[in-house]
Amino acid sequence: MTDAVLTVPPPSKVSVTLNDLRKPVEKDLREFETYFKNAMSSNGGLLDLIVRYLLRRKGKQLRPILVLLSAKMCGETSKSSYLAAALVELLHTATLVHDDVVDTADQRRGAFSINALWKNKIAVLFGDFLLSRGLLLALDNKEYDLLHTMSDAVRRMSEGEILQIEKSRKLDIDEETYYKIISDKTASLIAACTTAGARSVTTDDEVIDRMNKAGESLGLAFQIRDDLFDYGIRDVGKPLGIDLKERKLTLPLIFSLSGAESSEQRRILKLIRKKRISDRDIRYIADFVTKTGGIEYAKNAMIDHAQTASRLVGTFPQSEARDTMMGLIDYTVQRKL
Ligand code: IPE
Ligand code: IPE
Ligand code: MG
Ligand code: MG
Repeated sequence: MTDAVLTVPPPSKVSVTLNDLRKPVEKDLREFETYFKNAMSSNGGLLDLIVRYLLRRKGKQLRPILVLLSAKMCGETSKSSYLAAALVELLHTATLVHDDVVDTADQRRGAFSINALWKNKIAVLFGDFLLSRGLLLALDNKEYDLLHTMSDAVRRMSEGEILQIEKSRKLDIDEETYYKIISDKTASLIAACTTAGARSVTTDDEVIDRMNKAGESLGLAFQIRDDLFDYGIRDVGKPLGIDLKERKLTLPLIFSLSGAESSEQRRILKLIRKKRISDRDIRYIADFVTKTGGIEYAKNAMIDHAQTASRLVGTFPQSEARDTMMGLIDYTVQRKL
C-alpha cells in the first residue's frame, strides 16, 4: 500500500491546486460563504458548537466552485448562483455527516467525524438539521427549480447508498452495478452542481443539458479517485481500508476479482466476510489488486470519464471559467485530498 501503485501518468503534467480553481470565482465564493454560514446559524447550545466545529474544517468546497464555474461558463453569476452553491454545500455536508455514521468512520477532513465526537444520535439529527436548512434556503428564496434539482440528487444519493449496502451484504457486485452506485451516490450531486450553475444564468435547455452530462462524467471520475484512496495511494485524512472493512467492493477489486481463479476469488471473499478484517488482510487484498492490475484499470477508467467531461466542457466558448473548469477536471484525477 504505497504510492508506487499509481503508475499511469495523469493527463496533464502541470499540477493544479485548489487555489488555482478558486481564483476566478474568489469574489463569488465570498458571497457563497455568507449564505452558507447564515443558513447554518442556530440559537447557541450544542447545535452551535457543532456548527462551529464544522466551519473550522471546511473541506475542498469543490461543489460550490463547480456551481460558480459552470455559471460563469454560461453567463454572469447572480444571487441564484450563490444560493445554488450554498445549497449544494449544505446538502453535501449533511450527507457526509450521515455517511460517517453509515460507514462507522471516525475521521473526516483530517479530524474526528461528528459521530466520533458526539455519537450517532447527534450525528443523525445534525445531518437532518443541515438538510432542512438547505431545503429552507431554497424555499425562502423561491428557488423551486434549484430545489427540485437538488432534492432529486439527494434522492439518488440515498438510493445509491442503499444499493451499496445491499451489495455489500451479498458481495455479488459487478462493474455495471458499481457504476450505478457511484452515479447515484456521487455523480448525481456533482451533475446537480453543473446543472444548477448553468440554470442560474441561462434558460437554454440544451446548454443546461450539456453541463449536466459533463458533471455526470466528472462525478464518476471523482468517485473512482476516492475509491482508489482507500487502497492507500495517499493519506487523505480518512481511514484506509475502510471500504473493505465495510465490505464495499469498488472498481479496482471488482476488476481484479473478475479475472482471478475461483480459488483466489473465494479466498479474498472469505477475508472480506470475516467479522474483523485485519490490517494484514487488507494489505494482502491491496497487494492482490495491485499485482493483478486492478489499480491500473480503475485509474484508466477514471481518466476516460475525465476525458469525456473535458470533451463536453470543450464545446463551450473559450473563457477563463472554461479553462479553470478544465483545470478542475485535471485536479479531480490528480488530487491528493
Ligand atoms: C467526499 O467528497 C464524498 C465523496 C463523494 C467521495 P469530497 O472529497 O468533495 O469532500 P470534502 O467536502 O472536500 O471534504
Ligand atoms: C461518499 O461515499 C458519500 C456520499 C456520496 C454520500 P463514501 O463513503 O465512498 O465517501 P467517503 O470516502 O466516506 O468520503
Ligand atoms: Mg464513507
Ligand atoms: Mg459511504
